[in-house]
Amino acid sequence: MSTPSAPENLMEAVVSLAKRRGFVFPSSEIYGGINGFFDYGPLGVELKKNIRDCWWNDMVRRRDDVVGVETSIIMHPKVWEASGHVAGFTDPLVDCKASKQRYRADQLFFSPVIVDGKTVGYVSALESDDTAGALQAAAETFKRKKAIQGQLAPVIAKDMTEAQPDEIALIPSPATGEPGSLTPPRAFNMMFETHVGAMRDASAIAYLRPETAQGMFVDFKAVVDTGRVKLPFGIAQTGKSFRNEITPRNFIFRSREFEQMEMEFFIHEDDDWAKWHRYWIDWCKDWLKSIGLPDSHLSEYDHLKEKLAFYSKGTTDIMFKYPFGVQELWGIAARGNYDLTQHANASGKPQDIFDEATKKKFVPHVIEPAVGLDRIFLAVLCAGYAEEEVKDEKGNVEKRTVLRLSPRVAPIKVAVLPLLKNKPELVARAQALYAKIKRKYAAFYDEAGAIGRRYRRQDEIGTPWCVTIDFETIEKDGTVTLRERDSMQQKRITEAELFALLDEQVY
Ligand code: GAP
Repeated sequence: MSTPSAPENLMEAVVSLAKRRGFVFPSSEIYGGINGFFDYGPLGVELKKNIRDCWWNDMVRRRDDVVGVETSIIMHPKVWEASGHVAGFTDPLVDCKASKQRYRADQLFFSPVIVDGKTVGYVSALESDDTAGALQAAAETFKRKKAIQGQLAPVIAKDMTEAQPDEIALIPSPATGEPGSLTPPRAFNMMFETHVGAMRDASAIAYLRPETAQGMFVDFKAVVDTGRVKLPFGIAQTGKSFRNEITPRNFIFRSREFEQMEMEFFIHEDDDWAKWHRYWIDWCKDWLKSIGLPDSHLSEYDHLKEKLAFYSKGTTDIMFKYPFGVQELWGIAARGNYDLTQHANASGKPQDIFDEATKKKFVPHVIEPAVGLDRIFLAVLCAGYAEEEVKDEKGNVEKRTVLRLSPRVAPIKVAVLPLLKNKPELVARAQALYAKIKRKYAAFYDEAGAIGRRYRRQDEIGTPWCVTIDFETIEKDGTVTLRERDSMQQKRITEAELFALLDEQVY
């Protein structure tokens, strides 16, 4: 009837589906929620675990040169001094004194309103897909309201980090529309603080880790001494990280508690870092495609050399086309030997390796692919979500929502459906098959409602296959009907063929 496609309001549709079908809920919702925190429901936790497991299997288990660790979330506070996070893990913050709203200065834009070459006021707008357009519209409204005659110049969009001291008092707050209440930007440290032990004084301050990476650096020597590893090799981990983001937004894209999957790949100081950097960019892109993200949604962004930290040799982000714009998904950074050197200096424990060939010690360099699991989760939902018009059994047109998830990550791999629930022989056969599949794959048994309705329920949660047990199964050759989610095509297959299909596609 129609081809499956993403609706105009894709983000709204994805958030609504995520809630309706138990993928993601706002945290503590019965108390009104808490901004920047989310819970994963029964299907969400499966999808998330599948993405994490795919990453772990491909990144660690199926490679001979990467080992895994799981380090503590709260580490010695000196870790974060040495890494530079205590001094520098900040975002520029602007307060509105009137409304008590807070903004990230680099997401709050302003422009002078220039009429006939003269600045007659200022307008502001929060970053959006069309920030310049919003500023231009605000400038036109400003001119009209003040009844100023003359030629309005195009706006010059700048963010608040670029505002001159004399401009700040003239820029209107986006909350009130009035100037005079915005503060100059100040550095806001995004690490969550806590206290360890019974004391509440400065000596007890510790931090919830803002990245998992430092765990790998701090354990570098312990892994080298125990892990039978040889350069080049990587240390990987997955786990929660915490950042007190000023403006968490776009659902789970930018939250305050999220999960990272990071790997530190250590190479010889004389090795070709650019070659390894390229290798890991390609590896990450291929991996994203292997879990179903379309190539057309992926791109690369090279950080500008002049904006890199002094120790960084290069950073490339793999970008994803989200409904709210093209945004960073996975950062691949060539960090030199900065982190290990910092920890060697701060701890007094050398972090070098002995090179048998040159008989010299050196501190390895590192390439770091770092990705947010929640961001992949969101990308998978957005790329997979589609709607189309189909005919039901009676020939009526209805909307089909389908989540085209890769079998690798789909929360349920196969649904087992007896054709009729009041035929004990169909039910018994279906339940036996269900029990057999469940030993190895996530499966779902459903006997309630018309078969078409049961298919739709599975389509909406991304189940790649449904198998129906009908009279042919029990009376003839034991074959079942396999119905494929995306094409909705059906064919008869044997149980052995079903398991072969699952083995091949779910890995
Ligand atoms: N160790 C390097 C590091 O943490 P990053 O670019 O700050 O680098 C890595 O973070 C990845 O973590 C990002 O590419 C993104 O996928 C994810 N991430 C960062 N902040 C996040 C947030 N507030 N919410 C969700 N994911 C986030």
